[in-house]
Amino acid sequence: MDSVELVEMGPRDGLQNEKTLIPTDRKVALVDTLSGAGFSRIEVASFVSPKWVPQMADSAEVLAGITRAEGVSYMALTPNLKGFERAMEAGADEIAIFGSASEGFSQANINCSIAESLERFLPVVEAALVRKVKVRGYVSCVTDCPYDGRVAPDAVAAVAGELMAMGCYEVSLGDTIGQGTPETIRDMLIAVLDRVPAGRLAGHYHDTGGRALDNIEMSLELGLRVFDAAVGGLGGCPYAPGAKGNVATEKVHDRLTALGLSTGLDQEVLGRAGDMAKAMRG
Ligand code: HMG
Ligand code: MG
Repeated sequence: MDSVELVEMGPRDGLQNEKTLIPTDRKVALVDTLSGAGFSRIEVASFVSPKWVPQMADSAEVLAGITRAEGVSYMALTPNLKGFERAMEAGADEIAIFGSASEGFSQANINCSIAESLERFLPVVEAALVRKVKVRGYVSCVTDCPYDGRVAPDAVAAVAGELMAMGCYEVSLGDTIGQGTPETIRDMLIAVLDRVPAGRLAGHYHDTGGRALDNIEMSLELGLRVFDAAVGGLGGCPYAPGAKGNVATEKVHDRLTALGLSTGLDQEVLGRAGDMAKAMRG
């Protein structure tokens, strides 16, 4: 049976948008439950400015509190060198830098242009690679931007290519506001695949428009085998109006299984983690 990897986003992308601060021990319990589900990668922390995203201010405490499972890489977002240093002190296994294919979202999310963001990421990637820490790259707004509208596939390919050239081992393509359709996702992927091979790409599709599963199927046709998802379908980006709802890990698992693809995940544990995540929703 062919396999597909799901990268769990619940503790980070799922929770970052929640307005009410969730106690650290509940986040730790969620991560520990997820660790038993069979994931190889779980994004658990975000070392961004706590003024920008207060919900992620306890990221170091979350990393300190979890019981590390063998074979699981615990990932953290790091927008700059300060975030990188905080992530290393906290013991993150790998980091992720996050850029955008649209200028409007780049400004709203990380307060700089796309070109400036790439300049900022370079020293982060260099510092990580010196320490043999793997770096994942995100590109947001790969089809639509809440500020600039439709995003050109070439703009996505350009940023994805830059992130790969910098040294990212994988680029995750974010449909940040869940407005992509199989058609726009296909056009975007065809452009990106010119620069980055399918084996180095992941699909990160929010489900706001209800098309995430169809978009995953389209991406499978084009060779992608890694997808990001969040248990309980939680989440959204605080700087992307309308971004509510990562595609739910349980739903992706069920669809892939129905397609005859194996995720290696334990459905019962996923269900439990999904219930915990949903109970954290404000
Ligand atoms: P800025 O205000 O331009 O940065 O923010 P600055 O360098 O001028 O610093 C301002 C203040 O923030 C200073 O503190 C810094 O020390 C502090 P002050 O002197 O005012 O007390 N600061 C930090 N503190 C802790 N950790 C840090 C850090 N950096 C600066 N790392 C910045 C620029 C990037 C920091 C800010 O815009 C930010 O934190 N943005 C993060 C926004 C965010 O987290 N968005 C959600 C994640 S992205 C996402 O969800 C999309 C994704 O899921 C894919 C998809 O769906 O598309 C990945
Ligand atoms: Mg996201």
